[in-house]
Amino acid sequence: MTAIATIEAKGIHAYYDTSHVLHGIDLTVGRGEIVSLMGRNGMGKTTTLRALLGLIQPRQGTVLVHGRDMTGAPTHRVALAGIAMVPEGGGIFPKLTVYENLVMAARPGREGKTSWTCEHILELFPRLSERLRSMGANLSGGERQMLAIGRALMTNPDLLVLDEATEGLAPLIRQEIWAIIRRLRSSGVAVLVVDKDIEALATIADRCVIIAKGRIVYEGTPAALAADREVLMRHLSV
Ligand SMILES: Nc1ncnc2c1ncn2[C@@H]1O[C@H](COP(=O)(O)OP(=O)(O)O)[C@@H](O)[C@H]1O
Ligand SMILES: [Mg+2]
Repeated sequence: MTAIATIEAKGIHAYYDTSHVLHGIDLTVGRGEIVSLMGRNGMGKTTTLRALLGLIQPRQGTVLVHGRDMTGAPTHRVALAGIAMVPEGGGIFPKLTVYENLVMAARPGREGKTSWTCEHILELFPRLSERLRSMGANLSGGERQMLAIGRALMTNPDLLVLDEATEGLAPLIRQEIWAIIRRLRSSGVAVLVVDKDIEALATIADRCVIIAKGRIVYEGTPAALAADREVLMRHLSV
């Protein structure tokens, strides 16, 4: 028997009105695995994440979470099943303090998992512990992204999904975000990450998946991808 994946999408088709955007996406993230979803702008990365999270309804195909059918289930149910999303731009509460943002998100994960506490998260993000009483609106872009990741972890997820994980952040902050994602692996949280920094993704991912025009066109290890000049050029323009 093969291990049950944390999330498994099969043959997903999705539309915006009449515009057919995803054409049969298959995507799996195994337990504790780090998968990077890559591809040029407008190819369907965000739409794929939305379909996995129940933010849009796939018109065809299935989404299994821990082997259970969650196709088109409302987002809060997908979240309760152990999937946490950090959307592009973070999505924190600007009028609440850092501390309130964190505490509000807290809940046990699947099977009562409670390993992520406020203390644990502040240890992971020392910058946030210095800003506990600051309002979300007054944080820098990097602090905001750290808070968004912290909030997601407060739900004790099995899988963290990050869209454009380091978009618009200063280089040093980017490094911090990548280091934290790497540390998540050792704590057993699986990660599905979209970003434009292909080199950074290659250093943290177990597997790279490339999407083009709503179809998966490549899947392989970072090493295999780095050696494939043609795929790099054609799909990632590097
Ligand atoms: N809300 C929307 N309404 C209509 N079309 C959209 C919407 N969001 C994205 N699209 C279109 O769907 C396609 C895939 O977009 P997206 O999933 O955002 O790509 P990526 O995240 O890879 O840049 C693009 O052609 C984009 O223009
Ligand atoms: Mg996107």
